[in-house]
Amino acid sequence: MKLNIAVLPGDGIGPEVTEQAIKALKAIAMEFDHTFTFTYAPVGAIAIDETGSPLPEKTLKVCETTDAILFGAIGDPKYDNDPSAKVRPEQGLLQLRKSLGLFANIRPVKAYDTLIEKSPLKRNIIKGTDISIYRELTGGIYFGEKYLSEDGHTASDLCVYSTYEIARIAHLAFKAAQSRNHKVTLVDKANVLESSRLWRRVTKEVAAYYPDVELDFLFVDNAAMQMILNPKQFDVILTENMFGDIISDEASVIGGSIGLLASASVGEKYAMFEPIHGSYPQAKGKGIANPIASILSAAMLLEHFELHAEALMLRNAVEKSLKLHITTPDINTKYDNVTTSKVGDFIEDYISNPKDTNLNFKNIHLGQSTII
Ligand code: IPM
Ligand code: MN
Repeated sequence: MKLNIAVLPGDGIGPEVTEQAIKALKAIAMEFDHTFTFTYAPVGAIAIDETGSPLPEKTLKVCETTDAILFGAIGDPKYDNDPSAKVRPEQGLLQLRKSLGLFANIRPVKAYDTLIEKSPLKRNIIKGTDISIYRELTGGIYFGEKYLSEDGHTASDLCVYSTYEIARIAHLAFKAAQSRNHKVTLVDKANVLESSRLWRRVTKEVAAYYPDVELDFLFVDNAAMQMILNPKQFDVILTENMFGDIISDEASVIGGSIGLLASASVGEKYAMFEPIHGSYPQAKGKGIANPIASILSAAMLLEHFELHAEALMLRNAVEKSLKLHITTPDINTKYDNVTTSKVGDFIEDYISNPKDTNLNFKNIHLGQSTII
């Protein structure tokens, strides 16, 4: 298969983790005889520095003319505490989502057996957790009208949803549940918010098309508690933009590190794949950023194009790296010298040597990308 992939590494640790995902994708292309080409484009703070805009026209063009987008991370502390900043790196990501119509953000959360001790939650609570979060991505409070009074004393952000916006992602969530554990949980705040009551009504209507899927409802405050009390009760979580943002960071604790969570953002026409973690500027260039979320986002990209054997190979390589403790310090209790690029080297090597059953840590020349 020929795939033209836009690469938007962005800020902070974005470039270094994305680089590992690209190494993995190149190895997959080689192994399975595909042609993947990569077109790089700036986004975020780095794009502001270069062009004045967090999403330059040219970058959007690249995204519109490629088959898929691999996104790194966005954000720079120099903008965070400056409420008067006119442009912000995050606007680049939000504009990208909106312009490309990426309305569904899919965030899988899994407790890996090999990492269970890394989570601050108890083993018996998280073991076996497997959740798919469907977060609405182009509506709600993120995109509603913003207001700041002239005297600077009053501000508001409007949360708006239409039946159409709710129904289209609800259908995707129910379809996903059909090939999983047949349960959708709508997370909302219907006891207070009118927009949440609309979500309930529309989701109930959509549920009628999927009689084999059970639908239940949770208020977001309760859902936040249930997520750490009993995460195994969840199969597919369907929720609006901001609740999904918050609940998915919380859920990442189950996996042991936010550095493991991948995501796919899809619309009618375009698809973008990105880790859920941010730009983690304190770690930039130190070789400690976990590239797994980016690599697993690449696996989601492959699945999007029905390249299932390829995605499985990538996932197996990741599982193997976890098993052998070839992981960055956030999840490594055994070795302290495994850097971001060494994890990438291992994954790349594993893909190129799939039949090598003798892989173990000692066999790997860390940093030289070879297995002997
Ligand atoms: C995410 C991020 C973004 C969001 C930020 C960077 C705008 O937190 O993808 O979860 O809030 O959607
Ligand atoms: Mn977030």
